[in-house]
Amino acid sequence: MTITLTRTDPQGADREALVTFHTSARFPFHVRPQPTRVDLDRAIDRGAFRDDEHDSWWLDDERLGRVGLVVLEDLQDPAPLLDLRLAPAFRGQGLGVPALRAVTDHVFRTMPDVTRFEGQTREDNTAMRRVFLRAGWVQEAHYRESWPVEGGAPLASVAYGVLRRDWETGRVTTFAWDAVTLDD
Ligand SMILES: CC(C)(COP(=O)(O)OP(=O)(O)OC[C@H]1O[C@@H](n2cnc3c(N)ncnc32)[C@H](O)[C@@H]1OP(=O)(O)O)[C@@H](O)C(=O)NCCC(=O)NCCS
Repeated sequence: MTITLTRTDPQGADREALVTFHTSARFPFHVRPQPTRVDLDRAIDRGAFRDDEHDSWWLDDERLGRVGLVVLEDLQDPAPLLDLRLAPAFRGQGLGVPALRAVTDHVFRTMPDVTRFEGQTREDNTAMRRVFLRAGWVQEAHYRESWPVEGGAPLASVAYGVLRRDWETGRVTTFAWDAVTLDD
């Protein structure tokens, strides 16, 4: 599976496609699982898909065509943040790992100031958590009760990251949690 990235044109040719992509699907692990047209119009107008801090790309599979979308945030920082979404028809087929690898390659190849790349997901999003690990990302945090859930109690947010030097070498740098305890 070869996934390529095509930059979106949110204020122009891709506006309607961005609205349709989000409103025709459910994203059960996102804070807004079923975004509306109003949500999308507002997001596009405020630059959530492209401004100084944000950018976005369609994910195109060589065989299947357009399978998803990735949005990056915090692009003025050396550690941008990922939001990766496959359309429902393309979930559960092993596309998550090649998609994340393609996005990671794109970030480190085209953004020389980026030293690390980050992503967070809800604790029960097992598919995304496995995709992070299979793509060589490392879990770095577990924020208790920090993920708002519509109509329910908040869940934990789990944070993953990949370092530029790991991407360059193909190694996965792990770390000891080195917790300070009161037992000693
Ligand atoms: C999350 C997402 C990118 C994962 O990609 P995917 O191609 O659907 O994932 P896969 O089918 O390859 O599943 C990845 C792994 O999780 C496992 N898995 C999938 N659903 C699971 C579930 N409900 N419980 C346990 N394991 C599950 C798969 O068996 C696979 O295991 P493997 O690592 O042994 O192969 C995709 O489903 C998606 O876009 N979902 C909606 C948006 C979203 O939640 N994005 C995350 C925001 S950062």
